[in-house]
Amino acid sequence: MNSPAPTQDELKAQVARAALAYVEPGTIIGVGTGSTVNKFIEALATVKDSIRGAVSSSVASTERLRAIGVPVFDCNEVGELGVYIDGADEIDGHGHMIKGGGAALTREKIVAAQSRRFVCIADASKRVKVLGAFPLPVEVVPMATARVIRQFSEMGGNGVVRLRDGAPLVTDNGQHIVDVTGLRIERPHDFEMMVSQWPGVLTVGVFALQRAHVCLLGTPGGVETLT
Ligand code: 5RP
Repeated sequence: MNSPAPTQDELKAQVARAALAYVEPGTIIGVGTGSTVNKFIEALATVKDSIRGAVSSSVASTERLRAIGVPVFDCNEVGELGVYIDGADEIDGHGHMIKGGGAALTREKIVAAQSRRFVCIADASKRVKVLGAFPLPVEVVPMATARVIRQFSEMGGNGVVRLRDGAPLVTDNGQHIVDVTGLRIERPHDFEMMVSQWPGVLTVGVFALQRAHVCLLGTPGGVETLT
């Protein structure tokens, strides 16, 4: 009898374990945010004494890393990191991603920019041909959200301020998130550069400039490594 197909959770755990191969002993690593990264942090607990510590992209990941005994450093205390390990909401065949489903996109981009190599860990449902089906998160200074939403609507996008418990979600950086549907992002690089320049936009959740160099994709047939 065939064994049942692995759940999305099992696929996440599979890629999280595979990512340990990219953790170099004696180094400080960059750690992202989200449910897949939470699995990675669980896996990291088994080798935690072999690394010097981590730089984290969110308060939530910092707490989890400290809970397993990994020292967490501020970005400004350390130089270039060898590797940054994080999930994605969508990833295309060139390593371009949509990120920010967990509202941590700004710090994720900062830590990714400080790292030589971005290793994306994701289950197969995240792989797309063209970015845009997942609502694009954009971190925006609160006084600019209505204008930013109008700018997206001029290009066919429908933006809404993300809520938590009925009020605008406030990020770790004290800002709001606008989630934009209805986009088809054919040229992620140009799109990221354009939206990043809009006044009030702190970070757009397209990661093309900080693309993934390696993607560990969890599939029912095992982990696929895309480079
Ligand atoms: C958080 C992120 C996450 O990496 C992304 O949302 C994927 O999350 P998950 O692993 O839970 O599917 O960008 O801001």
